Amino acid sequence: MLKNDLLLRAAKGETTERTPVWLMRQAGRILPEYRALRGRLSGFKELVETPALAAEVTIQPVDALDVDAAIIFSDILVVPEAMGLTYEMVEARGPLFPEVVKNAADVAKLRVADPEEHLGYVLEALRITKRELAGRVPLIGFAGAPWTILAYMVEGHGSKTFSKARRMLYQEPALAHQLLEKITVTTIAYLQAQVAAGADIVQIFDSWAGILPPAHYAEFSTAYINRISAALAPLVPVTVFAKGAWWAVEDFAHSPARTIGLDWNQSPRLVRQQVPGKTLQGNLDPCALYGTPSQVKAATEAMLAEFAGGPHIANLGHGVYPDTNPDNVKVFVETVKAWRG
Ligand code: CP3
Repeated sequence: MLKNDLLLRAAKGETTERTPVWLMRQAGRILPEYRALRGRLSGFKELVETPALAAEVTIQPVDALDVDAAIIFSDILVVPEAMGLTYEMVEARGPLFPEVVKNAADVAKLRVADPEEHLGYVLEALRITKRELAGRVPLIGFAGAPWTILAYMVEGHGSKTFSKARRMLYQEPALAHQLLEKITVTTIAYLQAQVAAGADIVQIFDSWAGILPPAHYAEFSTAYINRISAALAPLVPVTVFAKGAWWAVEDFAHSPARTIGLDWNQSPRLVRQQVPGKTLQGNLDPCALYGTPSQVKAATEAMLAEFAGGPHIANLGHGVYPDTNPDNVKVFVETVKAWRG
């Protein structure tokens, strides 16, 4: 039994005594205890692939920041790796895939991953975390949306335009659908296994939603996200975060996902009208945390007021930036906790 289930109740649409709060990327470089542990290792992947250590850094922000949830320390890129494309995390640069998907033969070579066999280290990290949390707060599982995973598999690294990935949607739409299908089947099994291993709620990150035109987004992303959401929603609450895709919000009105994540460009008031009945998550600009403590408090209160009128899970509009002062993160968390809107 959970001692603090505010996040789950809000995600189910219930009214809670106060707004729950957590931060995307809360486990990571903002915390000195993370950097200390990380500095002793060969790199990011060693941390992700060592379940006891991944569990340790998952719990760090629960201790240090007193947030209302833990999110399992992993990465969305473990899925392409499980399907046969290994990634490297290049220090200070980001992810890199030495091999990318270029053609039908490359798609055919990819496997539909088996969660226990190919992603067992994440599942083990979830089991350890669940045990060590001992019901303090809910545990969030996650995966990338198929479109965002395709974008990395085809592009091979981060990009401002992801033009190779977007080109595939025009030149080889059938091949893109084949690849999205394989990613979707893998992701459904993976998230279901995360739930079996202890995840109380799951979030689908579509970080590169905002670069597609709306019609492509509906065809190549929403359709697959909805399949994943439908497969998970009978088990746990599902959150969809489609960053930058403000024009797609209405498409999620009847989605099996009960919670919709907002980035900081979106208006909570407008989104409430567009998806009545949904729980909304977000959406403070991560840069607001660079202000003075009193500025952080004021910005957080203004954000909270914008979400009035329905269930809300407080968060940033994207992951917290690594050079953010953890004291300001605490001001953000405490301001949410003190708020009685
Ligand atoms: O606390 C949490 O939120 C859990 C941890 C988490 C990480 N990645 C750890 C991480 C989560 C939820 C992710 C998801 C993820 N990974 C996304 C979706 C969310 C988003 O930010 O849009 C994406 C696009 C990735 C891919 C990825 N991983 C990139 C582009 C990078 C490089 C940029 C960066 O922040 O360094 C990563 C690396 C990464 N993933 C780090 C962490 C803590 C930094 C690596 C390090 O510690 O050296």
